[in-house]
Amino acid sequence: MIIYAGKDYYDVSRKAANIMSAQIIMKPRTVLGLATGSTPVGMYRQLIEWYEKGDLDFSQVTTVNLDEYKGLSGNNNQSYRYFMNTNLFDHINIDKSRTYVPNGLEEDSRKACEDYNKIIRSVGGIDMQLLGIGGNGHIGFNEPGEAFEKETHCVDLTESTIKANARFFASMDEVPKQAYTMGIKNIMSAKKILLIAAGSAKADALYKSLYGPITPNVPASILQLHQDVTVVADEESLSLIREKGLL
Ligand code: F6R
Repeated sequence: MIIYAGKDYYDVSRKAANIMSAQIIMKPRTVLGLATGSTPVGMYRQLIEWYEKGDLDFSQVTTVNLDEYKGLSGNNNQSYRYFMNTNLFDHINIDKSRTYVPNGLEEDSRKACEDYNKIIRSVGGIDMQLLGIGGNGHIGFNEPGEAFEKETHCVDLTESTIKANARFFASMDEVPKQAYTMGIKNIMSAKKILLIAAGSAKADALYKSLYGPITPNVPASILQLHQDVTVVADEESLSLIREKGLL
């Protein structure tokens, strides 16, 4: 595992964008596993900038995203498809038919998950999987639990997540109660993992994930068993690891 310390969020975004750019340049037909959330936004912005300068070409790139809310269409501005379009895909020369996100409109959960596993297999697996990390160590929507869920599955969102999301919707009925997410096996099957983190709220999760026991209680701790993980994290998120003298 390689850990790059960034001074701040901007530095983390640039370093992570450099690593992803290298992947695209070295393998133009690459398959990238992508994430949503606030952490990758700066990295996506940087990739767009380099694309605009003519330094990056996405024309042969394929992407598979980690997760999507069940019940939301790609046109809903709270969907992860919408997030990816507006934060990255709309601004680069990627062929959108090769950008995959779980189908939030598929009501049959089993079918949605099986279809997504098939897509991941049909594109030949993931070359580089980008991950953010939750304050509790979650990756994708793989929340702390009793077992590592293997492949794409449907998760029930916690009461607190549903409540937190409610402000983005006109009525409670519209708030998604479930999501589809890649499982730990999908993530661990990626050839390379790029984990990014910023802010003190991630310090505990990062310490437990990278140096604590490997347990489904801290889903990201499984990454210790992956042979090619690069972590790019800012000083705030590395603070506990520094305090323990581990870095
Ligand atoms: C996003 C995802 C989540 C986030 C995580 C961190 O697709 O799967 O696991 O990576 O919740 O989110 P932020 O970056 O908003 O702190």
